[in-house]
Amino acid sequence: MGDMSDATGTVGERRDAPERARAGLAALADLVADGDVVVLSGAGLSTESGIPDYRGETGRKRRAEPMTYQTFTGSAAARRRYWARSHLGWRHVARAAPNDGHRAVAELERRGLVGGIITQNVDGLQQAAGGHHVIELHGSLDRVMCLSCGRRTSREVLDERLAAANRAWSAEVSAINPDGDAVLADEEVASFRVVDCVDCGGLLKPDVVFFGENVPKSRVDECYALTGRAGLLLVLGSSLTVLSGYRFVRHAARLGIPVAIINQGVTRGDEHALVTFDAPLGPTLTALLAELGDGSFASR
Ligand SMILES: NC(=O)c1ccc[n+]([C@@H]2O[C@H](COP(=O)([O-])OP(=O)(O)OC[C@H]3O[C@@H](n4cnc5c(N)ncnc54)[C@H](O)[C@@H]3O)[C@@H](O)[C@H]2O)c1
Ligand SMILES: [Zn+2]
Repeated sequence: MGDMSDATGTVGERRDAPERARAGLAALADLVADGDVVVLSGAGLSTESGIPDYRGETGRKRRAEPMTYQTFTGSAAARRRYWARSHLGWRHVARAAPNDGHRAVAELERRGLVGGIITQNVDGLQQAAGGHHVIELHGSLDRVMCLSCGRRTSREVLDERLAAANRAWSAEVSAINPDGDAVLADEEVASFRVVDCVDCGGLLKPDVVFFGENVPKSRVDECYALTGRAGLLLVLGSSLTVLSGYRFVRHAARLGIPVAIINQGVTRGDEHALVTFDAPLGPTLTALLAELGDGSFASR
């Protein structure tokens, strides 16, 4: 199972027959109807918007090696490669539209059933769908930060600056990897010009948490607190391979808070889940809303 060797899922049993799936949906609806749901979402919630995930159904190894913090900060060539590929790849993410899954989560929040959404995604689609209390655990591709003065600026402004610095540059995108990483030929990358912070000349980094980097402690603490108050932790579209999200599932399990998981394929959190659902998120969450009926509100 490659990098999922520590996973303990029950893959076979999760291929539910339709009746069992319906029974499962009713059970899930019962849990959600009690309210105080905290959602923990991952890349799988955005695949129906055309943004690829990392691991896919089998939990197999990544198709693309993501940039690490150490590589990014340690090498000018790595930064050039990152920004050249991201300059084109970001458009793909920025153009993506929320899907039924994001909309259903926002609707559950609007109905007062969901009290908070922890997303591991950096695409902003949950907010675009009308999500309010969204914690971007791994930041957002929409913002850029200076590694020297710490100032955060908009990605759109950087996009204009990069375009201006690379007027004569063009490249052919052969594929889009997760996190807005467009695949380009090495020769194309070599002639790309990177720009630095306008204020201090420092290095710019997207305001996302790279692999090898820690999520700011205050943000982690906020997520622990949110999870600790939850009546249900609902995991949507995450393999939970990354400890960063998985730790909240462990936290909930330790506190006896029920965990439900909707994900195509195994997750590392399956052993902690009261309900697991192996099905596509858009249709499943839409069916869940229908099962809950119109305008159900949590009795608080
Ligand atoms: N959209 C994004 O912003 C984005 C995209 C890729 C990766 N990332 C980053 O990469 C890391 C990856 O961890 P992760 O656990 O979020 O992703 P992951 O790729 O490890 O897991 C995604 C899971 O979702 C499942 N899935 C895919 N499409 C689905 C669908 N339509 N319905 C139900 N399940 C579906 C997959 O089978 C897989 O098990 C995160 O830290 C995140 O920051 C973000
Ligand atoms: Zn600066």
